[in-house]
Amino acid sequence: MEVVILPGSKQIGSLAADAVEALLRRKPDAVLGLATGSSPLPVYGELARRQEEGRLDFSRVRGFTLDEYVGLEPGHPQCYREVIRREFTDRVDIAPGNVYSPDGSAADIPAACRAYEDAIKAAGGVDLQLLGVGTDGHIAFNEPGSSLASRTRIKSLIEQTRRDNARFFNGIHDVPHHVVTQGLGTILDANHVILLATGAQKAQVVRDLVEGPVAAICPASVLQLHPHVTVLVDEAAASSLRLADYYRHTYDNKPAWQGL
Ligand code: GLP
Repeated sequence: MEVVILPGSKQIGSLAADAVEALLRRKPDAVLGLATGSSPLPVYGELARRQEEGRLDFSRVRGFTLDEYVGLEPGHPQCYREVIRREFTDRVDIAPGNVYSPDGSAADIPAACRAYEDAIKAAGGVDLQLLGVGTDGHIAFNEPGSSLASRTRIKSLIEQTRRDNARFFNGIHDVPHHVVTQGLGTILDANHVILLATGAQKAQVVRDLVEGPVAAICPASVLQLHPHVTVLVDEAAASSLRLADYYRHTYDNKPAWQGL
């Protein structure tokens, strides 16, 4: 796991966008794993800017989102399908038909979850997965206690996550209890994972996921088992890391040819 400590969101957005740009040069029909939440927004903003400049071409790219609320009517502004459209895919030239999301309004949720796994496989798997992390250690919506080998399925949200996400709704009572989410096993299948975290409220979870034991109580810690994970954090989110100086030294002296 590589930890890169940067001054702020702008630098995080730019470095993650560099990784996407390098991937698209290598593989114009790459498969991107798209996360919602506020952490990836600087990356999406930077990618949209680079597309406008003519540096990037998303026309052959496919995107898979991580998760979705159950029970929101399709088109609800907080449906993650809508959020990702607003925040990213409408701002670049990805064909709308090339963006896939788990179906939280399916009559048969288990069948929809299986179909989502099949669609990811049929696309050849995710080349680069962007991830945020919840304050309780969840990635996508894999709450503490999730099986470390889980696949796409329905989950119940923990109260803390519903509280954290209440800011997007008219209060906590409107936040759904159920979600469908890629599993931890699904996320581990991506070729490269870039996790983004900023702010002091993420300091403890960043320490737990990078330096704590691999344990279901902090689902993001499963990323320690993945061979290619990059964690991009600002100073505040890095403030509890025990080996912060070592991560800084390593990144400052990294051979240029290595990339992220
Ligand atoms: C939601 C999403 C996660 C995201 C998390 C953190 O719960 N399901 O994918 O990582 O929020 O969001 P933020 O980046 O806004 O802190």
